[in-house]
Parts: sequence; structure tokens; C-alpha cells
Amino acid sequence: MAPLFSTLILGTGSYAPARVLTNAELALTIDTSDEWIRSRSGIAERRIAAPGEAASDMAVPAAQRALADAGLSPADIDLLIVATVTPDMPMPATACILQHKLGLPTSTACFDLNAACSGFIYALDTACAMIGSGRYRHALVVGVEKLSSIVDWSDRTTCVLFGDGAGAAVIGSSPQPGIGLLGTRLGAYGDCVDLLCIPGGGSNAPATAASIANRDHFIQMKGKEVFKYAVRGMEEAARDILEQHGLSAHQIDLVIPHQANLRIIESIAQYLELPLERFFVNLDRYGNTSAASIPIALDEARRAGRIRAGDLTLLVAFGAGLTYGSALLRW
Ligand code: ACO
Repeated sequence: MAPLFSTLILGTGSYAPARVLTNAELALTIDTSDEWIRSRSGIAERRIAAPGEAASDMAVPAAQRALADAGLSPADIDLLIVATVTPDMPMPATACILQHKLGLPTSTACFDLNAACSGFIYALDTACAMIGSGRYRHALVVGVEKLSSIVDWSDRTTCVLFGDGAGAAVIGSSPQPGIGLLGTRLGAYGDCVDLLCIPGGGSNAPATAASIANRDHFIQMKGKEVFKYAVRGMEEAARDILEQHGLSAHQIDLVIPHQANLRIIESIAQYLELPLERFFVNLDRYGNTSAASIPIALDEARRAGRIRAGDLTLLVAFGAGLTYGSALLRW
């Protein structure tokens, strides 16, 4: 069903913790090398949150920058969605903690959303639907992760890939149809849960001394299989949304893909028959920041002048679940 109101991104912001962890530093503690990590993933370094710096702490500056960019104040926000797999604590929602830290009104609807690395696109779609219903005025959508807290630093097959950070966007109703969010395509391969998960700590397997000893509370991933599904899901999400809108890939000015692996991005570029220059890539500096990856990249792309008025931007992501999604934006 079509929304009552069109919606658009009014402002973006991002934040990366100061601590840079290079591949060379990682090679001092685990059996890996700068050459292996760069050639298999494209990652050169990642940011790591300071001790005691929680997801909500990183979200604050990202959200404040997005509000400033939109020219709005905390009082203008009536909906806050935080996409994350690394909440400050299992309960309550990080959105409630962030609401308080930002000084948002108590009348703000606040909740977290877990779609892993596709989280920002899922949250964007949710916020736009809620704004489009006419029942909310301005939404703050945040993607934030402290993956350093759930990565097994002794597992070289995963720990080299991830990093910490936050990105945010302010959503409002669009003055004219055809400008803003044109559409989304979301999906999931729920039969592939085991390929990428944290098996311990939930209601299925609550924490015990044995589960901690077994390292069940860290990310476990079958990288090769995830890679194949990532390519399949992102291709499907990109193809379907272009078809739905009668567009060809060549009409897209900039693709902002989830920043997991340069080889995955190259596969999507090849599939869409687009040059790599048409993709925004910053994973060399941040690694995979899951739900924060797309909003950080979107903010950096806007601030670098890579997105101009009238441009068409495609966001496309995949993540644990295995979720996938795409969003088409006209600026
Ligand atoms: N350093 C050195 N050697 C390593 C490392 C490392 N960090 N990690 C693995 N290796 C070794 C392996 O042990 C293996 O050795 P073997 O052949 O002797 O067994 C060899 O390198 C090749 O390993 P592969 O797993 O086959 O390497 P591959 O080319 O598949 O690359 C990678 C691995 C980078 C993980 C890739 O599969 C990938 O990117 N997959 C997608 C993962 C992803 O994007 N996950 C995020 C999902 S998003 C979310 O929701 C969190």
C-alpha cells in the first residue's frame, strides 16, 4: 500500500572511535598478515571503541551530527530506531538509553531493530513507513555497532573483518513526490541462521560457565558460505528494486553497498555491469561495522560531494539472518 506522504533523508552524521587497529597490529597477536587480510577482504584497518565506550556513546555524536545537518533539534524528533546487534545491554532497548543521552522528548517512540548488517535499510524502511503514515513527523534512524565486544579475538577467520562505529540519518516527509525514498526490497534466508550467529546467551541457550568456556558468546561464521549468499542476496535485492522502478543499473549515480568485503562489492559491480568507481567504498578504513556500515558510508559520501541534488542512490546490504535488502533514493 502506498504511504500517504513521501519521505526523505534530511540529514546524516557519523562517528568512528579514535583508536585505529591496523592489520599489522593484528598480525602481532594472531596468525595472519596484512597481505592476507587485504587480498581476501580489502580491509587495511578498523576502529575500536575505547574501554567503557558503549554503542549508545558512539551513537550520540553520530545522531547529533545528523540533527545538525538536518537543521533540527532533539525536540523535533518523535521516533527513534536503533539498528544494532550490539546493544548496550540485552534489555532495555539501546534506543531508550540513547533517547535520554540525546535529550529527546519523552513522547518519542523508541525501539531497537535487529537485522544485523541489513539493519540500517530495514530501519530506514520502517521509519519511512511510519512517517509516511502521517503519524510521526521526524525520525532519527541510527546504525551502531561495537563488534569488538562480540568478536573472538583468538579466531583469525572472523576477528580481522569487523570494526566499531555509528551512523545516523534524520527522516522527514518530502515536499514533493519522486524525491526521497522511492522504494525498498527486503528479505531473508531464514534457513541459513547457522552460517552466521552467536549461539550462546539467548533464550535458546542461556549463559552458563560451560557456554562461556566454549566461547559460545562470540560471532561464529562460515565465511565461504556467507560469501555466496551475500552475493546472491545483494544481487537479488538490487535487481528487483531496479525492475520494480523500471530502471537500469546505469541510471544509478552511486551505489552504497554494505562494507563487508571488497570481493563481494566487485561481484555486485560485475553483475550490475557498473564500474567500481560507481560504488562508495570505505571498508579499507573501517572493516565491517554491520548496521553502522551503510549510514557511515552514506554520510561520508554526502560530505565528500559524491551525492548531488537529483542523484539516484542505491543502498544494498546483507547480514546475519541471513537478511538482505536494498533501498532506492532520489536526492
Ligand atoms: N589470516 C590468514 N589466514 C587465514 C585467515 C586470516 N585472518 N583466516 C582464514 N585463513 C586461512 C584459512 O584457515 C584457510 O586456510 P586452509 O586453506 O589451510 O584451511 C585459508 O586462509 C582460506 O580461507 P577461506 O575461508 O577459504 O578464505 P576466503 O577466501 O573464503 O576468505 C573470508 C574468507 C574473508 C571470511 C570470506 O569468506 C568472506 O568475506 N566471507 C563473507 C563474510 C562476511 O562478509 N561476513 C559478514 C556478514 S555481515 C554480518 O551480519 C556480521
